[in-house]
This record gives sequence, structure tokens and C-alpha cells, in this order.
Amino acid sequence: MVGVYRLSKKGLRWFQKGHPWIFRDDLEEIEAPDRDLLARLVDPSGKPLAWASYSPHSKITLRILERGPGDGPAELRSWIAERVRQAVEARRPLARETNGCRLVSSEGDALPGLIVDRFADVLVVQFMTPFIQGLATTIVPTLVELLEPRMILARNNAKVRRLEGLPLEITLLHGTRVEKVWFEENGLSFPVDPFLGQKTGFFLDQRPARGRVRALASAGGEILDLCTYSGGFALNAAKGGAESVLAVDVSKSSLDLLEEARLANELSGVERVEANAFSFLKDLLEEGRRFDGIILDPPAFARSKREVEGAKRGYTKLNRRCLQLLRPGGWLLTCSCSYHATPSLFRNLLGEAARGMRVQDLGRIPPPEDHRVLLGFPESDYLKVHLLKKLDGAQPG
Ligand SMILES: C[S@@+](CC[C@H](N)C(=O)[O-])C[C@H]1O[C@@H](n2cnc3c(N)ncnc32)[C@H](O)[C@@H]1O
Repeated sequence: MVGVYRLSKKGLRWFQKGHPWIFRDDLEEIEAPDRDLLARLVDPSGKPLAWASYSPHSKITLRILERGPGDGPAELRSWIAERVRQAVEARRPLARETNGCRLVSSEGDALPGLIVDRFADVLVVQFMTPFIQGLATTIVPTLVELLEPRMILARNNAKVRRLEGLPLEITLLHGTRVEKVWFEENGLSFPVDPFLGQKTGFFLDQRPARGRVRALASAGGEILDLCTYSGGFALNAAKGGAESVLAVDVSKSSLDLLEEARLANELSGVERVEANAFSFLKDLLEEGRRFDGIILDPPAFARSKREVEGAKRGYTKLNRRCLQLLRPGGWLLTCSCSYHATPSLFRNLLGEAARGMRVQDLGRIPPPEDHRVLLGFPESDYLKVHLLKKLDGAQPG
């Protein structure tokens, strides 16, 4: 049985803006859904508006699968399998530059709650809602048929699953256990630990920014890569032609991955430092060190609205220290992956960080096409990457 939910007048205005989530407070239950958790959304007068997935525990109660009064899926499982096929097909052209990409990007591929990342012949998936989790027995065989992977691993340990009443777990769904897989991106090889690596194993959303850093480094110079993880930026800087690269991370296991990758790619001139970026930057300033290019890619400082004020202070302090460390003419590639630090908030705090200096904003670098940013869905626009150029200004420290 398909569930039926009536939208309030306020909810209707929100829905009409194009956002794909509907909150519990805006809904009245007319008919509860069966275990497939498929629901029909109707307007205040009962007119059909959309098909949606139902989440019994989350405040985000409905996620839109298809807008319009249409009849919806004749058969839910083949409907979902077809969407997975379309998503995989859309990534085929990427094979020219990489065999590591996001194959399914949740709402971006009209498959809310589903993430599928590919690293060569290994797939790492995340099921973020009970609806999509219930369809795993369709999704996994479809991926196997399309890609014949060596392993499909579910990294279902993201904390947001708790809000959906789902357990945190890591489960081998297909194939044999692969503890390390190497993938290629623009001529560089990177190791990924699918079980223990951060996120699903690699920050695939920074591919265009890594390309930009490689081009910038072709001018040579001394580069600092803060929060390097497995060295995605650091190794591109070395490959591009940097004279030296200093790669910093607080995590020893990340720096070990970087060293493995450096050796495999036969690159030199990359020094690793295990340190906290905040205190390390202060030390560099006190020592009077200067750089020609800096990458600052910290973890999400604001994971909720409550954390925004603290995050703002943290981002401002780090960015100011980076700008102070640059030689005139030097560049800073600065990132924030916190959705709650909005694009305008992030840009404003960069202005605050630059006070007393003349800094040019060379613009935002968007995530790659496989990480789909949807208009009308600000949550998909979480990654902000700005390229700044220091023209001149005081360099205290
Ligand atoms: C968003 S990831 C960086 C991704 C990386 N730039 C890449 O392209 O693969 C953030 C990194 O910051 C590191 N980190 C977290 N807190 C830190 C701190 N206080 N100082 C230095 N590194 C930190 C984490 O270990 C993680 O590797």
C-alpha cells in the first residue's frame, strides 16, 4: 500500500520553491505506507503533487522522488534499478580522466539517500534512509551487473543514520574483502582504504580544485598543503612543478597514505608534518616562513547551526594566518565543506580574514559534475572553494 500525505499551505509554498525535502510539521498522514515506504504527496485540497520516499523517524519525513501528478512507478524495484543505470551511464565520459568518481549522488540523481563512490573496481556505498536501505537487494545486483566490481562495501557508519533510526555499521555486500585499492586521477595514483579511510575513502569532490593546484604549481615555488589527508593536493602540486611541498595533517594514518602515494608516483620534494594546523600556522609565522601557494582544506567545523559562530571564528583565524604567510603575488586555495557555513557567510569571513591586506578573489571552483549541485537545494551546495591572490599587505609574524 502506498502512503498518502497531505501538505499544509506553508509546506506547499516550500515545495513550490523546488526543495526536495518535506518536513513532518508540514504534513498530515492520510494513509500510512507499507514496508516499501513509498508515499504520494497531495496538496491541501487532495490534488496529487509528487511521489516520495517516507522516513518514519526523521524530521525530514518525505524526500521527493518524482514531481508531478503522474502515475509513479509501475514497479518500484525496476524503477529504482533504471535510475541507478542512468546515473552510472552519466559518469561514463569521466573515464578519460579518472576511474574514481561519485556514481550516484543522492538527490542529484533522483535517488535520495543513496551515495555510490567508485574507486577502480571497488564500490563504496552509503544508504542514508530506510527507504533506500530497503532497496539494497535491488541496487547491489544492479551495480554488479553494470560494473562487475571486486567488492561492494556499505560504509553505513555516518552519524546522520541515527536520525533515521538506522544502525551504524560497515558491511561487505558483495565480493571479497579489499583493504586497499588504488585508483587513477589525471595521471596520479592514490591508495584508498575503503574500510577505515575518511568519508568513503577519498575526497572525490575536490577533483577540479586539485587540477587547478597542479596548474598553479607549474610556476614553481614553495607550497604549503594544510589538512592534506592522503596528499591529493600536495602530490598534484609536486607533479605540477612546485620546488617544495610541505604537507600537514593531524592524522598519522593519513600521512602514511600520502607517503605510499608519493612513492608510487615517484615524486620528490614533499615533506610530511604531523601537526595541528592552528598551532602549526602560528609557529610558521613566528619563524618568519613564507610561501608562494597555500591550500587550506579543513574538516567541517560547523556540523549544525549551533556550531556556526565557533566555526566562523576558526575559519577566519586559519585563513588570516594563511594570508599572512603568503608572499605578495602568492595564492591561497581555501575550502569549507560545512553546509551550515553558507557561501555568503564563507565569502564574508574571507573578507574579515584579509583585513589590512589587498586580496583578489579569483572566484569559486565548483565541485565536479559527478557531485551534482541542484538549484533549489542549497544542501547540495556544501563545498565552497575559493582561489585568492594576495596582492600586498602587512605580513606580521
Ligand atoms: C577535508 S579533509 C582534507 C582532504 C584533503 N585536502 C584531500 O584533498 O584529500 C580534512 C583533513 O583535515 C585533517 N584535520 C582535522 N583537524 C585537523 C587539524 N586541527 N589540523 C590539521 N589537520 C586536521 C583530517 O585528518 C583530514 O585529513
